[in-house]
Amino acid sequence: MIISVILAAGEGSRMKSKLPKAVHKVCGKSIINYMMSTCINGGSDKSVIIVGHNKEEVLKEIEKHGQNKVEAIEQPIGENVPYGTGYAVMQAKEYIGDDDTVITLCGDTPLVTDTTIKKIIEYHDREKNEVTILTADINNPKGYGRIIRDELNSTVSEIVEEKDADEMQKAKKEVNSGIYCFSGKRLKEALKKLTNDNSQNEYYLTDTIKILKQDGYKVGACKLDDNNEILGINSRVQLAEVQQIMQKRINDEIMLSGVTIINPNSTYIEYGVEIGRDTIIYPNTYIEGSTIIGKDCVIGPNSRIIDSTIGNDVKVEQSTIVESKIGDNTTIGPYAYLRPNSNIGNNVKIGDFVEVKNSTIGNNTKASHLAYIGDANVGDKVNIGCGVVFVNYDGVNKHQTTVEDNVFVGSNCNLVAPVTIKENALLAAGSTITDDVQANALSIARARQINKDNWVKNKK
Ligand code: UD1
Ligand code: CA
Repeated sequence: MIISVILAAGEGSRMKSKLPKAVHKVCGKSIINYMMSTCINGGSDKSVIIVGHNKEEVLKEIEKHGQNKVEAIEQPIGENVPYGTGYAVMQAKEYIGDDDTVITLCGDTPLVTDTTIKKIIEYHDREKNEVTILTADINNPKGYGRIIRDELNSTVSEIVEEKDADEMQKAKKEVNSGIYCFSGKRLKEALKKLTNDNSQNEYYLTDTIKILKQDGYKVGACKLDDNNEILGINSRVQLAEVQQIMQKRINDEIMLSGVTIINPNSTYIEYGVEIGRDTIIYPNTYIEGSTIIGKDCVIGPNSRIIDSTIGNDVKVEQSTIVESKIGDNTTIGPYAYLRPNSNIGNNVKIGDFVEVKNSTIGNNTKASHLAYIGDANVGDKVNIGCGVVFVNYDGVNKHQTTVEDNVFVGSNCNLVAPVTIKENALLAAGSTITDDVQANALSIARARQINKDNWVKNKK
């Protein structure tokens, strides 16, 4: 069996956060979630996650992932309790069989890919190693453990942590990625021999390398092609660096699938978003969560779409859409705001400064400017004039408005809910409608105009 052990019990103190590091997000997906997917897709039969600091938050993320191959184990945390990556892996020993292949990973490197995990396992097997370390040559190795090689035959002899390294060791540019492949039996043997005799008084997983080497086992290293993959997130600065690289990966994949992104550097698209062919994304656009966008759409500039489903041939300009659904060939904006549970039909126009909330809008309906539509069911081919307000709230409760097909709502009407306007009715401009209106009726609900001749002149 292939078992992966992901270490996520640390506090992540350098993040200066109330949240544990593992639940911080990169392109909308938590770090731990990336790690779990990578391990499973990389061939793990089981993935064991070590949790500790703020474990409730990490457990919530693990639950969201919903993988039956994933299991969380607790590392005791507290004063006078041992600490360190080695101690963390010890917690998983019951899950590790002698014949298992074990991948251990730090839970803070979300850029590592499943291809790399497969590669290290393959290399490990081919070389018949007892442990294989994934390493990379990097120009700025600060903060990473350094790979120390034997001067005679250049095989790896140990990993030295930055804090324990002398100047010569610090100058080495080959670093430990924090990802290793072990034979189960040897990993367990080496863990038993770990001590915390180092500058941080921690049980370092990295010391297993020296131990296995000294015991005469074959230790190997497999170098990465793409150094970015090992970038660890320890601070918010590194979080932003990783975010940028992940964003490029996501945007590149979307562009390669046939979507135009005018300026990828100013386009934020979260992990898992789907966009159809020949859609064009203009700059400063944010597409988030479980959003799905169809084909031939024009999205942006300056738009934000969260957890929404957009049909084909839709235009969204300078608008915000949250948890809503938009049909085909519909135009949204500029400057529209669709709040949760808005279900907009086909060939609809939701124009400038129109807000819609918890409402259904039928096909071919228009609300071209300056309107609020809340808690409503609006039919097909309805015209909602400028300045129309669906008065849905009486200060205590929300009420429903129904506007049937082909209704014409004149400009500046108030529809005071609960109220129903039957099909083909016409509401005169400026009416405040408080009672239901029958089909085909004209409803005028405003004071009559009185013109007083010469009134101004006489007053002077
Ligand atoms: C570690 C490696 C270092 C490597 C680097 C790669 C050690 C001693 N050092 O250093 O050689 O270059 O990763 O990114 O292994 N954790 C636990 N329990 C603990 C301590 C840590 O689960 O008791 C977890 C943390 O949550 C974190 C991971 O282990 O996800 C790594 O810990 P971190 O403190 O980030 O190690 P580094 O100093 O980066
Ligand atoms: Ca780290």
